[in-house]
Amino acid sequence: MIPTIQKLASTLMTPGKGILAADESESTMSKRLTSIGVQDNTENGRRFRDLLFTAPDVEEYLSGVILFDSTIRGMSNSGEHFGRLLERKGIMPGIKVDKGLQPAPNFAQEEISHGLDGLRERLDEYYQLGARFTKWRSVIRITNDLPSDTILRANAHILAYYAAIVQEKHMVPMVEPEVLFEGTHTLERSGEVLHKTLKYVFEELQAFRVSLSGLVLKTSMALPGSESGIAINPMLVARETVRVLKDVVPFSTAGIVFLSGGQTPIQATENLNAIALLGNLPWPITFSYSRALEEPVLEAWKGLDANTDVAQKALLHRLSLNVAARKGAYKKEME
Ligand code: G3H
Repeated sequence: MIPTIQKLASTLMTPGKGILAADESESTMSKRLTSIGVQDNTENGRRFRDLLFTAPDVEEYLSGVILFDSTIRGMSNSGEHFGRLLERKGIMPGIKVDKGLQPAPNFAQEEISHGLDGLRERLDEYYQLGARFTKWRSVIRITNDLPSDTILRANAHILAYYAAIVQEKHMVPMVEPEVLFEGTHTLERSGEVLHKTLKYVFEELQAFRVSLSGLVLKTSMALPGSESGIAINPMLVARETVRVLKDVVPFSTAGIVFLSGGQTPIQATENLNAIALLGNLPWPITFSYSRALEEPVLEAWKGLDANTDVAQKALLHRLSLNVAARKGAYKKEME
């Protein structure tokens, strides 16, 4: 029997697990490889993904992995499609379906995600390749004057239209309006922008009649800007983030997952832990990190097969810490 989207969404939010966002575009992957002094070619990106997905018992920690178009089509070292390999391990394959950002006309420094054209047809193909959930990311920059209401609304509208199409195709939409960490703003300003962003997104989702119990919100945490000089205090981050989420995210939403957004791996774990410790959350929460999971793995790997084992151990270690954080059981001594 084909599982309902509500069942798929709750499987993604399985207690004790989280989501790995391994959906970097080719250009982002090439930056990651260059950062560890490894030649930035497609084969090295494929080898890195193979290392991640074949880490022994990784399925104990992961309910899902988000892939990029070329990765879901890519093959493991053993000649199996990555989507199939994940499926066989009981990890749900997901796929990033937005086609990136384009400058918003008439609105300097703001961007709109694109990729709605031909989305239905692409989803049919991704479903055949094993994907059961999707991701669409829009980006919201904070300055004294940004974001503008117009572009915030436009991105919310597109996210909701995307989500409706994905549900029509029997997949779970992950809706990701990323409020950027970059900037000189305060924690309070970040909370204010996050509030408005999510308010618009949920208004549009409801207008498009999207089933919230078959949808996962991927959100930023409320954080003081990375160039603000303000230290990150996990308890304050958690309070502001949860205040905003409780105010605007309907309780019927299947789950909330967090992006790491440029926090260090330890900060991302500490902040998730502080959020979980506040308790009394009406939705399941977990992590859906890319950089905060992959950075230590890249560092340990350095592109060498001889380091595969130690790099996979670094991944499993980071995953185990985040799984603990998801239920508020992380302690610094576990690092
Ligand atoms: O879209 C962004 C990714 O899904 C999450 O990446 O954890 O590095 O922010 P990040």
